[in-house]
Amino acid sequence: MLRRAAAISVHLVGPFWGRKAGASLTRCLHQTLTMAKQLPARRLDGIDHNPWVEFIKLSNEYDVVNLGQGFPDFSPPDFAVKAFQQATSGDFMLNQYTMAFGYPPLTKLLASFFGKLLGQELDPFKNVLVTVGAYGALFTAFQALVDKGDEVIIIEPAFDCYEPMTLMAGGRPVFVSLKPNPAPKGQLDTSSDWQLDPTELASKFTSRTKALVLNTPNNPLGKVFSKAELELVAGLCQQHDTVCIADEVYQWLVYDGHQHVSIASLPGMWGRTLTIGSAGKSFSATGWKVGWVLGPDNIMKHLRTVHQNSVFHCPTQAQAAVAQCFEQEQQHFGQPSSYFLQFPQAMQLNRDHMIHSLQSVGLKPLTPQGSYFLIVDISDFKSTMPSLPGAVDEPYDRRFAKWMIKNKVGSSTGCILVKVSIFFSRPHQKDFDHYLRFCFVKDEATLQAMDERLQKWKAELQP
Ligand SMILES: Cc1ncc(COP(=O)(O)O)c(C=O)c1O
Repeated sequence: MLRRAAAISVHLVGPFWGRKAGASLTRCLHQTLTMAKQLPARRLDGIDHNPWVEFIKLSNEYDVVNLGQGFPDFSPPDFAVKAFQQATSGDFMLNQYTMAFGYPPLTKLLASFFGKLLGQELDPFKNVLVTVGAYGALFTAFQALVDKGDEVIIIEPAFDCYEPMTLMAGGRPVFVSLKPNPAPKGQLDTSSDWQLDPTELASKFTSRTKALVLNTPNNPLGKVFSKAELELVAGLCQQHDTVCIADEVYQWLVYDGHQHVSIASLPGMWGRTLTIGSAGKSFSATGWKVGWVLGPDNIMKHLRTVHQNSVFHCPTQAQAAVAQCFEQEQQHFGQPSSYFLQFPQAMQLNRDHMIHSLQSVGLKPLTPQGSYFLIVDISDFKSTMPSLPGAVDEPYDRRFAKWMIKNKVGSSTGCILVKVSIFFSRPHQKDFDHYLRFCFVKDEATLQAMDERLQKWKAELQP
């Protein structure tokens, strides 16, 4: 029936190559399937736009310094590199399947490590699920909990997958914005100046609210929610019988003595919180794509159902490498030799380097308290250079980011950055179209290249 309903048009593109010694006949086939029925599932309606594609393409076309995407462009620590090498060259059984919900040595370590931090006795089989990155953890959580018509409160600016994941599960995203309160004159704005209005937040809860997504430290702002802010969120979740999906992938990346607090550790919250983490962000190895969810068994059992009927299993060797990393970290945790202490110290220096460099060319960075990122306020440029190339209805930050990439300065072009409006829901994008996100988890050489480009750019802008 499918075959009858479908008409397949075949376009042959590219040359037919003659058979040469050692080379096989190669044909390039592009097939376009045209169906009488609607081809994509309706759950994809409105979520097919990918804000990253255009910028990744531009970064390949131009000689840019990539400060856009959130990954380190330097090696993971030696112990992590060795752990991965050992996992791929040691025990041959690591080439095979392991337990579906996580490689047992890893789930055991995650349970003991995070159990102490959350003040809970965690069962490695019931309270821990290993996933394909934190992304996989989020997807599993949304699929397991969000039903048609359920509402999910998303605090924006928000990591851009929360909205499509809510929609794909049939839910309705309900947005509440952190709003900036300008710092006193002469002081640098910081991510802590962005706050929730308690009355507005409370007004977003209804009888349909199933979950609230909390991301601390926040991407893209770098805000670390204070204990008082978490208590506000926790109180409302309890009052309205709501699950909290806590995305804490940047939990080790906190600066200036700020403390990350897991909302699951607050009174009454363990039983309604899913805490999500990422080995990629923890050990500077984002390509490993190992993440996890921690939570109470009565919620986790539904995530296990999704996991066993979708991904089923994450690569054993990557899990074994992460287990070894945690074993190493467990021996040093709380001491000066801890990677979770040393890495943020190093990244704080990077952050300060970047802030200084941006200020030296007249840009206005906000000091982040945590995460890989800082945002820069470009509203001064918006008033002095309102008409950058681009469509009139394009948010200003998008036009600015493209101009920054393409604008030639000497023999090179600029830096690749991320526009902050993509972290806001569509109705709010216009209000927040004058910020750019920079990633400072970059090598010294990348930061120096940024300095040079910014200085050339400044020289060009001066009359
Ligand atoms: C806030 C946030 N959550 C989740 C993820 C995904 O993490 P992972 O690479 O472990 O899938 C990212 C990645 O950038 C992120 O910024």
